[in-house]
Amino acid sequence: MALVGSAPPVVAPVVALDRVSFGYGAVEALKSVDLAVQAGEVLGLCGDNGAGKSTLARIISGAERPSRGSLSIDGAPVTLGGPRDALARGIATIYQNLALAPRLSIAENVFMGAELLRAMPVPGLRLLDKPAMARAARAYLDQLNIDMPAMATPVAELSGGQRQAVAIACALRWQARLIVMDEPTAALGVKETARVLDLIRTLAATGRTVVLVSHNMADIVDVTSRVAILRSGAKVQDRPTEGLTADSLAHLVMTAGTA
Ligand SMILES: Nc1ncnc2c1ncn2[C@@H]1O[C@H](COP(=O)(O)OP(=O)(O)O)[C@@H](O)[C@H]1O
Ligand SMILES: [Mg+2]
Repeated sequence: MALVGSAPPVVAPVVALDRVSFGYGAVEALKSVDLAVQAGEVLGLCGDNGAGKSTLARIISGAERPSRGSLSIDGAPVTLGGPRDALARGIATIYQNLALAPRLSIAENVFMGAELLRAMPVPGLRLLDKPAMARAARAYLDQLNIDMPAMATPVAELSGGQRQAVAIACALRWQARLIVMDEPTAALGVKETARVLDLIRTLAATGRTVVLVSHNMADIVDVTSRVAILRSGAKVQDRPTEGLTADSLAHLVMTAGTA
């Protein structure tokens, strides 16, 4: 019998944490955290210094494994063996230090660890296909709507916002559908911050899912659709961003979950 009028099919979250705890030795960095990241959303993750935001990002990115609880991707429980495992499942994490090689070019950074090679007339000899990498790197960056110099330019010559874009282009080259960004604007001035927020909007507009870890309330209110707040490793708030201002969010971060 057809189920006329039944509920629409439920789409499993891209990533879900089910009662995840994590300790660094005796330090309990995460305490039984439930969190579901839905496809297409920009989820803000807030909390005071030491609240567990980066630890949560590291769990999603496969850099750490939960001590207790479990992680699911597309509704199926998984144990991630490491960041490569997460990347293979479409989850990329961009840390504040960006892990870029400043002396290498934009194109070399975008293709780090996955260089394109071309066969040579001599059997067995393969050389880097620099023109192909430059073209492809440019294509990824064009998707991000950001001004960029020639692809041969060393990353050291780029602004902070442009460097974030190079890191995002790496994630796109891995075909990431979920990009976790840990404090991407912490070291940036006003103008460069605006650029990075534009990058996040562009990612969302092109169907990617973003988790934005930040203690900048204005940034969170500006680009996220939902916000989760951690306090001392526990999730104390999970709500739509709509209706929040930077001030009211800051107030929530300070008071949510306290008696
Ligand atoms: N490598 C580590 N070794 C020991 N303790 C750590 C380590 N990294 C983080 N912590 C501790 O875990 C808790 C959560 O840290 P973290 O996830 O970095 O918080 P946040 O990113 O919200 O500032 C803090 O008490 C912090 O001191
Ligand atoms: Mg942190």
